[in-house]
Amino acid sequence: MSLYAIGDLHLHFTSELKAPGQLHGRVWKKHEQKFREYCEKHLTEEDTLVLVGDHSWGKNLAQAEADLQYICDLPGRKILTRGNHDMFWDAKKTAALNERYAGKLEFLQGNYYTYRDYALVGTKGFTFEGPFWIDRRGRIVDWDADAEEHAKKIVQRERKRLLDSFEAAKADGYQKFIMFLHYPPTSVLEKESVFTRMAEAYGASKVIYAHCHGESRFHDSIEGMYNGVFYQLVSGDFLKWQPYKILD
Ligand SMILES: [Fe+2]
Ligand SMILES: [Fe+2]
Repeated sequence: MSLYAIGDLHLHFTSELKAPGQLHGRVWKKHEQKFREYCEKHLTEEDTLVLVGDHSWGKNLAQAEADLQYICDLPGRKILTRGNHDMFWDAKKTAALNERYAGKLEFLQGNYYTYRDYALVGTKGFTFEGPFWIDRRGRIVDWDADAEEHAKKIVQRERKRLLDSFEAAKADGYQKFIMFLHYPPTSVLEKESVFTRMAEAYGASKVIYAHCHGESRFHDSIEGMYNGVFYQLVSGDFLKWQPYKILD
């Protein structure tokens, strides 16, 4: 029995694929087949797989159904967090999604799930991604202040959702936490954030995140041990479609 995570499957069984450039390249060739085969070989019905966002290119639930069915058909228990591309998932209707997929998929936002004596908490998260202005040496010299203001609002909204998740678990007596985000915990301009501070405050042992794909993005945020918390990127192309084992 093990706990695994991966993110950024970017499935498109029904929807028209309009992938940005970074989704091209050998690692993405038949990636859904490589991932399914790996899971079928290495995971069992006793395992738990957390999928940390950007599941589907579908613009609505109808366009995402085949992608979600592919996830349903993977071995073991499946827990999903929301990614920035998951248009099928209305953030205010997570309970309805949980009802619709009851017994098949579990959608993590504002609520929490458990694995052994750990509470699995999470939300989409958010980071400021520019636009930045860069000098000839590739250094950031300025950025779009309006976009930064907008990002701060979204960060506050996500902070509240994560807080709800931690508090719900804590109220039920959980003291051990693993935290899941879709976005990295910090933006390229930050060394800490509301998300890293919350992980530290609640004593989360690990923070698992995705969203950074394409080799140039793999080291955008914190990796490894930092202030007593272990940070791990699990985007699918980074992991070459082999889910990361968090716990046995
Ligand atoms: Fe993605
Ligand atoms: Fe993303």
